[in-house]
Parts: sequence; structure tokens; C-alpha cells
Amino acid sequence: MGRCIVITSGKGGVGKTTVTASLGLALATLGKRVVLVDADVTLNNLDLVLGLEAAVTYDLYDVTMGTCRLKQALLTYPDYPSLKLLPSVHPLGEVDKTAFREVVEELAQTQDFVLIDCPAGVDDGFVRAVSAASEALVVTTPTATALRDADKTLGYLDALRVSKTALVVNRVRGDLVASGEMLSVDDIIKLLHVRVAGCIPEDDVALSMCGATPVGTAHHQAVNLLARYVIEGKGKVYDPTYIYRGPLGSLRRWLKKA
Ligand SMILES: Nc1ncnc2c1ncn2[C@@H]1O[C@H](COP(=O)(O)OP(=O)(O)OP(=O)(O)O)[C@@H](O)[C@H]1O
Ligand SMILES: [Mg+2]
Repeated sequence: MGRCIVITSGKGGVGKTTVTASLGLALATLGKRVVLVDADVTLNNLDLVLGLEAAVTYDLYDVTMGTCRLKQALLTYPDYPSLKLLPSVHPLGEVDKTAFREVVEELAQTQDFVLIDCPAGVDDGFVRAVSAASEALVVTTPTATALRDADKTLGYLDALRVSKTALVVNRVRGDLVASGEMLSVDDIIKLLHVRVAGCIPEDDVALSMCGATPVGTAHHQAVNLLARYVIEGKGKVYDPTYIYRGPLGSLRRWLKKA
């Protein structure tokens, strides 16, 4: 039976969909069978991030309504046969919570990981996405507002009996952390008393690549470490400050600001 992990946040726009796509790719590269489920029914975009929008015929709503079989709605990511997507393209379709959970359970029978991309907020869509998962990754940026929402979300997850939770800190600027202008992962652990599974640097170039990140980039290394942490339940998280330490690091920080 595969692991069902919801990628959630509370606050919108912090990187849930991006993390779902890049983590899915990293897990598939490590040989895992992965399916990504777009549970953001109203503002779906996981198909777009993966560059699969033109391939969509059926979606999650069709499966829950019995319009098609689960297999017919699943899309395979080109070059990665072990990475699949169950898209959402009916923004007004009411997806029933029990039917959603049954779909996720069916997927978990043949996959190692089912990653559920959750909508922002903590209303019905959140409850539906979370109720099908036994684990959660809470994505946040290192800002006060996102961290407060992440903290509240951790409380809701606990109330919904999802106890295996960890944070993914996204859009971290190593130069700003090194100069003390942005919270570090250690600061966040002290503030929220939570496990941190990953630290993903701010990286615009890598993100224009339909979920895939060029090998060797900081973003690629960070997502790989996150994937290993997810598989093993422990491990190293990426340190975005390492190139900004020492005399050469000060010069890089200065150049970044200039
Ligand atoms: N590490 C990163 N570096 C730079 N940009 C990023 C990073 N992560 C995400 N982004 C950008 O932030 C924006 C929001 O990301 P994304 O759509 O993944 O957030 P979300 O939490 O899924 O949003 P929503 O709550 O609307 O579903 C996108 O433009 C994405 O490319
Ligand atoms: Mg999203």
C-alpha cells in the first residue's frame, strides 16, 4: 500500500503546486511509482505546471461521477513512466469527499506515493484533500504571515488526525538568511516546534521548466534532499547559506544586492 501525502499550507501562493510537481519528479527519478492528484478543484493548475494540459481528456470529477474509469483519467509524464497525474479540470464540479478518498485509496494500491496538491485555505476543499491522506507536508515561505498560517494548519491537521507532519520551507534566499534578514530553518524550528523535511531556495530559472529542475542547480539539490527525507523519514535539508559564508560569500551577497 502506497503512502498518501497531502501538500498543504493554509496561505495561498507559497508553492504547494510547485513542490508537489518537483517532489513527484524527484521521487520518480529515485525509482518510486508516484501519482500526483490535483485536489485544488476550483483553481486547478497542476496539469499546467507539468506541461500536460493538452493531454487531459478525463479528470478527477469524471472519475468520482463514474463517467470514466480511473485508468482512463490518469496521465503519464513524458520520459518518466513511473510519474502519473490525476488532473482536475472541472472548476465547478462538486467532488464528494468520500468518493475522493476512495479514488486515493485505489491509487495507493498500485503506487508507492500518492501526492495530493491541496487548495489554499482550510475550508471544505482542504478537509476533502486532507481526509484522504495519512501524512502531510506543510509548505511555507519564511515570512511571518505564511508561518502563522502554517502553524494554524498544523493545528487543523492534528484535529483531523493527520499526525505525521513536516514543514517544507520554500523560496528561501540564502544571501538574506546569511545576513540575518530572513529567518533560517533553525529559527523556524524553534518558533513552530515542527520537523522540517525540506528547504527550497528561491529560483526563478528552474521553475520555468514544467516542474523539472535542471540537474546540478541548487533547486534540484534541495528537492532531491526533500525526496530522500520523505522516503526515509529523516535526513539532511538543503542549506541555502553555504555559498554565502566566508569572505567569498560576503562578495556574493554584495553582488546579489547590487
Ligand atoms: N522556490 C521557488 N522559487 C521561485 N518561485 C517559486 C518557488 N516556488 C514557487 N514559486 C512561484 O510562486 C508562485 C506560486 O507557486 P504555486 O502555484 O506552486 O503556489 P501554491 O501554493 O500552489 O498556490 P495556490 O495557493 O494558489 O494553489 C508560482 O509563480 C511559482 O512559480
Ligand atoms: Mg496550487
